[in-house]
Amino acid sequence: MYDFKIAAADKATLYRDLASALEGLIAGEPDAIANMANAIALIWETVPDLNWAGFYRNVGGELVLGPFQGRPACIRIPFGQGVCGAAAATLQVQRIDDVHAFPGHIACDAASNSEIVIPIVRDGELIAVLDLDSPRKARFTAEDEAGCSKLAEILANAI
Ligand code: SME
Repeated sequence: MYDFKIAAADKATLYRDLASALEGLIAGEPDAIANMANAIALIWETVPDLNWAGFYRNVGGELVLGPFQGRPACIRIPFGQGVCGAAAATLQVQRIDDVHAFPGHIACDAASNSEIVIPIVRDGELIAVLDLDSPRKARFTAEDEAGCSKLAEILANAI
């Protein structure tokens, strides 16, 4: 087992340490599932106030559930539907302060109140999205977006 013990007072330091732990964890490993599984375990353990964290992979133009932590979730999400589908269709980060105000939000876990979804793109193609949910409204700030975007960049070459 790996024990990274990341505890940081500020978000910039937390995401910097998380990015460096992630780089170490995936170094030299070509298997996408293994890397997604370890990445999401690390994120789940490190990022506070989450009730769900996981990947949806682009499988033939549809999002399909990948490695995750939290409660069992919806398996398939069409591009354009919900927060994940919006990120997949636009290739833009979706940072939603109140998911109940997002038209078409797909409620997989009733505990979720805010959400961030980051597209993972390689050579212009969507590989997957990284989806983090929180029970706290407006949990995700611009700093979380910057930190998670860096993680997505690292993962783009590892999954
Ligand atoms: N809420 C997401 C669905 C996935 S769950 O949060 C795990 C959405 O609206 O796309």
